[in-house]
Amino acid sequence: MCGIVGYVGKRNASEILVDGLRRMEYRGYDSAGVACLYNGHIGVVKNAGKIKALREKVDASQLVEIHQATMGIGHTRWATHGAPNEVNAHPHLDASGHFAMVHNGIIENYKEIKAGLSRHGIECVSETDSEALIQLIAYCYTDNLERAVSEALKKVKGTYGIVVMTDREPGKLVTARCGSPIVIGLGADETVIASDAAAIIPHTRDAMYLEDYDMAVVTGDGVQMFDLQHSPVNREITEMDWDAGSAEKGTHAHFMLKEMFEQPDAIRNAIRGRLDFDMGTSILSGLDLSPRDVAQIGRVLVVGCGTSMNAGMVGEYAIEEMAGIPAEVEQAAEFRYRNPIVTPHDLVVAISQSGETADTLAAVREAKHKGAVVAGLCNVVGSTIARETGRGVYLHAGPEIGVASTKAFTCQVAVMLMMALKLARGRRMPRHQGEELCQWIARLPELVEKVLLQNDAIKGISKKYADKENAFFIGRGYLYPVALEGALKLKEISYIHAEGYHAAELKHGPIALLQENTPIIALLNNIPGKEKTLGNAEECKARKAPVIAVVSEGDEATAEGFDDMIVVPDCPPCIAPIPTVVALQLLAYHIAAARGCEIDQPRNLAKSVTVE
Ligand code: F6R
Repeated sequence: MCGIVGYVGKRNASEILVDGLRRMEYRGYDSAGVACLYNGHIGVVKNAGKIKALREKVDASQLVEIHQATMGIGHTRWATHGAPNEVNAHPHLDASGHFAMVHNGIIENYKEIKAGLSRHGIECVSETDSEALIQLIAYCYTDNLERAVSEALKKVKGTYGIVVMTDREPGKLVTARCGSPIVIGLGADETVIASDAAAIIPHTRDAMYLEDYDMAVVTGDGVQMFDLQHSPVNREITEMDWDAGSAEKGTHAHFMLKEMFEQPDAIRNAIRGRLDFDMGTSILSGLDLSPRDVAQIGRVLVVGCGTSMNAGMVGEYAIEEMAGIPAEVEQAAEFRYRNPIVTPHDLVVAISQSGETADTLAAVREAKHKGAVVAGLCNVVGSTIARETGRGVYLHAGPEIGVASTKAFTCQVAVMLMMALKLARGRRMPRHQGEELCQWIARLPELVEKVLLQNDAIKGISKKYADKENAFFIGRGYLYPVALEGALKLKEISYIHAEGYHAAELKHGPIALLQENTPIIALLNNIPGKEKTLGNAEECKARKAPVIAVVSEGDEATAEGFDDMIVVPDCPPCIAPIPTVVALQLLAYHIAAARGCEIDQPRNLAKSVTVE
């Protein structure tokens, strides 16, 4: 969703701001802008549309502030209140033009605030909720920006990550957060603020993360942190482990393609040092579960959204099957609102690549409130879910920039399998079975490499299906979540209407939709239930639907009579989701590419969904 960047130091601010916004493009946005402060004036450039256009507008700008300033703020907006146009784009100025602000989140009582300001003769010019806040900050200002910000924030209901500046106090940025992430990067003689590490890593690795209700006064020399009552707070400086190159797409046509091909390495990183081959178990010390804790777990609840939830479903199956512990996966938004029964014997696992998804975060809070043991399974180090859960496992997949999640999914599944292994070995799984599973998990990178070698063949198949408008993915057992994930990948990047179904469920309704233009992607790997799925695929074929059969190596005969075949390595059922999903990612990618879609930034989508 929206991206924030702020800079104060000695270098040209507009260049750093625009570059920072470019690095956050992947989050999804529809307008962008920068404001720079120089010589007692604030200059603003903004536009509806892409960063490329903003950069051209900045270059062509006649404003001296834009070219000379060494401090400023920038923003990419994903429209919520008001259309994506120049007026609604951030940064917003107050009516006097002396204050500028960028904001992520939603000011829920903005109408009330606007009405109050209006009574004092202050009118907002945009339709946004954000502008109300900067007008309020300016209204609260006497002679100190941080005091004005805290006064204003005390009157606000909703969520925010903000950066504010005023020409009355040059050299100072004030930032604050409640519900929307803010990271401060500490460089030599300069400080960078951002909502996302991607905008900070080119400048420094030393970072401080704001917590809810923290405020910081930021200068080129450093940072002072307070709470809204102005009592000092201390936050650790942590080192960000991503390098700038890993957030660039290099020679690949798209981040998604790069990230799919990074999967063998990403999985290696996710499992490195976490398998104990001798004891046939996994070492996940971040879970902080003693053998006694493991023995006492009554149920595992996995919460997440979208792709992360699909990965959680594989985890649900693995935990029940291997550890014999009742497990359930639940959509995080549903979990938070339906007053679920949660007990202190429940282990709640929150899965989130970004660690910032609003619904998953709310589910974490609900589970903690109800006394469960809550663990996070996140990719972004220092993200809110990782910090609030306080225990869990990082994926170490490296930055995922493509909006369609690929390497995060495979690493999430790999980590869920290691979690299932740990719980299983603490409960009922014999050592030899644990050892065998360790060997298979260790082979995952190699299995994925085998699938990636079929990139050209899958590209060839994709051409035949690029003009279709509907598709169904079917699977059973461990391949049911893979069918869901395959359909999600296809619909989000190619805009083909795709549904993932349990193979048995197809004839309870959706089969009515089948005809010669509706391809079926049937997951016919060699796992229990294959014969039944094969029967379901035949039923589709009998209704003239073309079938792409995904089959295990050595079992190619299963694909006979179908239209196309994709071969994936033969492996145990719990391992199969990872290589199989990679084939489906490639299929979705090539279909979308053939349709000329904007693969890394599909329409309407945001990488990190920080609003409900
Ligand atoms: C789909 C996708 C989304 C995310 C979902 C949760 O490709 O990326 O469905 O999986 O928005 O995001 P995280 O994992 O960051 O909580």
